[in-house]
Amino acid sequence: MHVLYPGSFDPPTLGHVHVMERASRLFKKVTVFVAMNPEKASWCTVEEREEMLRRIAARWRNVAVSSGQGLLAEHAAALKADAILKGLRGPADLEMEHQMASVNHLLCGMETLFMVAHEGYAHTSSSLVRQVLRLGGEIRPFVPEEVLPLIAGKR
Ligand code: PNS
Repeated sequence: MHVLYPGSFDPPTLGHVHVMERASRLFKKVTVFVAMNPEKASWCTVEEREEMLRRIAARWRNVAVSSGQGLLAEHAAALKADAILKGLRGPADLEMEHQMASVNHLLCGMETLFMVAHEGYAHTSSSLVRQVLRLGGEIRPFVPEEVLPLIAGKR
């Protein structure tokens, strides 16, 4: 099975990496997809996020990286993904994810699979990383090594 794992990844966190790692073992192919979230202004450019994800994805032979604007369901169908994969940090994530899964199914018949965060990853988010960095804190507990050179100069 080929799954499309979409997100803002602004920046990628250890929580995202853990989903990628588990998905790489479960599925034949995983495409990590940088998508636009119309509700969020972006911090890193799409190119920066793709570069960070490419460096991370180099850990596994069956994980690729792509990006695109517009409807995710259409990209998933065009890339011949069998399903969309989303991570769930907790029940709060499910409300919006349930809606998105329904819309994506209505749009393209695309199914969404959910992978729950393991203990230790449920509290990590990209917005938390941005906030810690802005306030001068240490972000190494939350992000993979590969992202550090690309976000070092950012606040
Ligand atoms: O990491 P995020 O911000 O939770 O990811 C959300 C994202 C980018 C996957 C979502 O906003 C999305 O699918 N955007 C693409 C536009 C789209 O298809 N919107 C309708 C989805 S119901």
